[in-house]
Amino acid sequence: MSEQTTPASGGAVAAPPPVGTVRLTINGTAHEVQLAPWTTLLDALREYLHLTGTKKGCDHGQCGACTVLVNGTRINSCLTLAVMHEDDDITTIEGLGSEDNLSALQQAFVDHDAFQCGYCTPGQICSAQGLINEGKAHSEHDIREMMSGNLCRCGAYVGILAAVQEVVNKK
Ligand code: FES
Ligand code: FES
Repeated sequence: MSEQTTPASGGAVAAPPPVGTVRLTINGTAHEVQLAPWTTLLDALREYLHLTGTKKGCDHGQCGACTVLVNGTRINSCLTLAVMHEDDDITTIEGLGSEDNLSALQQAFVDHDAFQCGYCTPGQICSAQGLINEGKAHSEHDIREMMSGNLCRCGAYVGILAAVQEVVNKK
């Protein structure tokens, strides 16, 4: 299925930027979206495709709130352009599970109370899924080290670590 999508916000601009059609496959659905070439993947997801589960924290690659999976590998979506991902499978937090069918990580975050405000949580879960896909994390130290790019201003690290450890240990 292909969906034609327009910008979410209709604020007046002095001169419209040059746009082109960008084709993105997100959570298994093909989208066509009109974007300026410099639009980040994060802005494409949030502002044009209304997938607001992915969060914008720093917008500079320093907090991990915007983490998504591209072909199973975790990346900071604020640091990459949407147009670079036309041939990729992009997975956001919305694609990992649903309210009625949580993924193992999503359920573990609930079970371990691994959040307070929840703003960092989608990025934490996508990053943890990428970590599991990598198959490199085997110890608490590994998880701490390899998740160090995902910051939590609420300091919910104890719960986050417990949740990720539980799922890693089941693999
Ligand atoms: S918003 Fe992308 S790393 Fe902070
Ligand atoms: S739960 Fe609030 S920033 Fe992590």
